[in-house]
Amino acid sequence: MNSIDICKVSLGINSYKIFIGKDIHKSLTDYISNYKNYSKTVVISDKNILEKNPSLFNNYLNKDIEFDQIILPQGEKIKSFKYLELLVEKILKLEVDRDTLLICIGGGVLGDLVGLASSLILRGLDFVQVPSTLLAQVDSSVGGKTGINSKYGKNLIGSFNQPKSVIISTDILKTLNKRDVNSGYAEILKYSFIYDKNFFNWLVKNGKKVISLHTESCVYAIKKSCSIKSKIVSIDEKEKGIRELLNFGHTFGHAIEAITGYKNKIKHGEAIFIGMHLAIKFSSFLKICKKDVLEKYSSHLENLKINYKLSDYNIKISPKSFLRHMKFDKKVKNNKIKLILIKDIGSPIRLFLDNEKLLSNFLKNELK
Ligand SMILES: NC(=O)c1ccc[n+]([C@@H]2O[C@H](COP(=O)([O-])OP(=O)(O)OC[C@H]3O[C@@H](n4cnc5c(N)ncnc54)[C@H](O)[C@@H]3O)[C@@H](O)[C@H]2O)c1
Repeated sequence: MNSIDICKVSLGINSYKIFIGKDIHKSLTDYISNYKNYSKTVVISDKNILEKNPSLFNNYLNKDIEFDQIILPQGEKIKSFKYLELLVEKILKLEVDRDTLLICIGGGVLGDLVGLASSLILRGLDFVQVPSTLLAQVDSSVGGKTGINSKYGKNLIGSFNQPKSVIISTDILKTLNKRDVNSGYAEILKYSFIYDKNFFNWLVKNGKKVISLHTESCVYAIKKSCSIKSKIVSIDEKEKGIRELLNFGHTFGHAIEAITGYKNKIKHGEAIFIGMHLAIKFSSFLKICKKDVLEKYSSHLENLKINYKLSDYNIKISPKSFLRHMKFDKKVKNNKIKLILIKDIGSPIRLFLDNEKLLSNFLKNELK
């Protein structure tokens, strides 16, 4: 038996467990409670994952389990009404009933789409997340946010829909390309910045091992990130308070993703590296941040050879367009942008921006 770590997301009757291990995929259904009670299982994955892991389904599901499979294209473009409709129709065609279980084996994109579909079909089917990217393992598979994008902004259409369990097997990351591994590291770094300075110090020592997918370091970073997210989500499922801290770097990052059209030019995690850098710089600009924070952030990523500036990605955005997209983000109330900024590593603050001119001047200076 492999060693397995378990985190719990405590949400009353919607509580669930996150199972984390090196190689727990061989017996997926052991981690799904009352699996035998489901009338049908539909496994959804993407084409790219299957090309890289041709035996994925055989390896992932116990040999004696019957299931239907749906394979979608890969990429952020599937977080759209077009693919939501396609997926929903494909699932309905299988004559599913309310006791059907959906299992999503994929990255954050697929997880967000399948989670949304599962909340809509027959007014709600159970679903299980089997995250297959580092980003999905440390962040998107936990917490129940589902969604698709709009031309007005990222994740603007969605629901809160908690999975029945999250099953994380680090072995599946072996086929992930370097860019996607690094992209996942953005959310790990985010957890250290919003919650735990000691975790940041650990990352300074062990970050290289994490992005090299060294098993013990990866399991530790995943466990730490999932446990921070579980604690936050258990307190504030619907993002009325503390959960907003998880958006550190995201209001800037989402604007970058929306402006670049959700293309492969910039991945979600890459946009978040830039977004966190801008959020720290803006915190310094407003004089609410300790001096060494920016230096620590930059030198850590430079050590890891990870890009974190817009210019590194050859992207030019006008300050006007940047500001307009930041205002389309969900974190706007009464026309005021809500930003998660940072006082020190591990000490974030929420700020409603009364004076938009400040942000506009900051962006003009940063984007010239
Ligand atoms: N719901 C949430 O709380 C939440 C949180 C953070 C991010 N997100 C969302 O997550 C998305 C980004 O997720 P992502 O970075 O996982 O991207 P992704 O899902 O697009 O996956 C990245 C690439 O990796 C491939 N891939 C997946 N698993 C693989 C494997 N094991 N081996 C080889 N290739 C594999 C995919 O085919 C894809 O090409 C964004 O849309 C973002 O908005 C959601």
